[in-house]
Amino acid sequence: MYLGIDLGTSGLRALLTDDTGRPVASAEAQYDVQTPHPGWSEQDPGTWITALDQAMAQLQGSPGYSDIRGIAVAGHMHGAVLLDSGDQVLRPCILWNDTRSAAEAAELDATAQVRDLSGNIVFPGFTAPKLLWVQRHEPEIFARTAKVLLPAAYLNLHLTGRHVADMSDSAGTSWLDVGARYWSDHLLEAGQMRRDQMPDLVEGCAAAGRLRPELASRWGLTGPVTIAGGAGDNAAAACGTGVMTAGQGFVSLGTSGVVLTARDGFHPDPATAVHTFCHAIPERWYQMGVMLSATDCLNWLGRITGRSPADLTAGLGDQLRPPGEVTFMPYLSGERTPHNSANLRGGFDGLSIATTAEDLARAVMEGVSYGLRDCLEALRKTGAQLDSCLVIGGGSKSAYWVKLLATILNLPLQFPKDGEFGAALGAARLARLAVTGEDPAEVLTAPERAMTVPPDPQLRASYEAGYAAFRKRGAKLTLR
Ligand code: XUL
Repeated sequence: MYLGIDLGTSGLRALLTDDTGRPVASAEAQYDVQTPHPGWSEQDPGTWITALDQAMAQLQGSPGYSDIRGIAVAGHMHGAVLLDSGDQVLRPCILWNDTRSAAEAAELDATAQVRDLSGNIVFPGFTAPKLLWVQRHEPEIFARTAKVLLPAAYLNLHLTGRHVADMSDSAGTSWLDVGARYWSDHLLEAGQMRRDQMPDLVEGCAAAGRLRPELASRWGLTGPVTIAGGAGDNAAAACGTGVMTAGQGFVSLGTSGVVLTARDGFHPDPATAVHTFCHAIPERWYQMGVMLSATDCLNWLGRITGRSPADLTAGLGDQLRPPGEVTFMPYLSGERTPHNSANLRGGFDGLSIATTAEDLARAVMEGVSYGLRDCLEALRKTGAQLDSCLVIGGGSKSAYWVKLLATILNLPLQFPKDGEFGAALGAARLARLAVTGEDPAEVLTAPERAMTVPPDPQLRASYEAGYAAFRKRGAKLTLR
């Protein structure tokens, strides 16, 4: 039996699978994000531990539970957990969607060789600029920082007693030489950090340690339990969906939006604002375009109109319509790909006295889909190929949105059959690999497809024109 833990931004999900990888039971526990100032986003790492205990308590009694042999954690990426020399947390974790260190990010990004070695733009949400911010604004805390751990690595420490992180998550720090897969002295120095403040590195599918006996007995687990390196959440989702080799990919219509594809080699192209990170298995990388607000834009509209997103979009039916009169720029939280701007903001255009809340919802879905097309085009600029891909994430429950997205991306989108295929399953699969040493290609397989949604041939041209207009508006909005 294996356990995959998905340490998400709003909650933790634990998935129990049997030895063949079949899901047996799952449990969830929620927690909050704190935003003490505009642009800040923090979490107390202690709440993750409480959530994990709650999830384990829910799972106890599930068939095979006490025979868990391997555990892996998939975590929300880029967060900084600062620990003192006794492993005590020094301040709340600064999360991936916190933009306070935009100035430090720009500074690091302009430093010689930083993009070359890290393979990426230093985005404000990445880890290295957060530490520079702490150095400048909380110098006493910075001085006491003995280790910096990513959220998943913090759970690895809790589980094993060791400071150990996997490559895929570490790739999002701007301290890792992403091509060579080790901490870079040059990048650490640029970020005012030392190598001894970094955790040990392992591949996501390799063993990171053993479960501490105290936890094993508290949770009622019998045998020795291996903890795998784990992964950043996007790499783990790629493991769960079997996105392992070039040409395979997925679009995630979640809170944030992602277009991701696996790469057989290291092909960074930071100028595109595409992210190039290590995969969770050796000698593989993946690339992705990231939109900071995808379904979050519709959630926002729901909040301010007092209606649920499902209610706002129900009237659209299933039949795709031509582009609406109202247009929307989806930059409610700034944007990573392709704009790299924490200051970029969203907006509607084309409003009239006759515009309804439903028109706004339709414009939001179109604007978010155009944003994902931007991500796809950015990926293609790096040489990545995507001929069809899976669609996952909460927004994919809307048949209308998926048809719209397939048409705007001009890409057939495949629905996985109902079931598990996300980061928690990816993590459980990594746990299995760490225990059995099986060939990753045998274990990290694609889910069965339920159906394929093709682009609508009648509306392709009008949405292509809509995308051209979106790009023009975007070029005017960009602030760097
Ligand atoms: C990826 C990113 C997000 C987080 C949160 O670069 O910032 O996808 O991992 O899930």
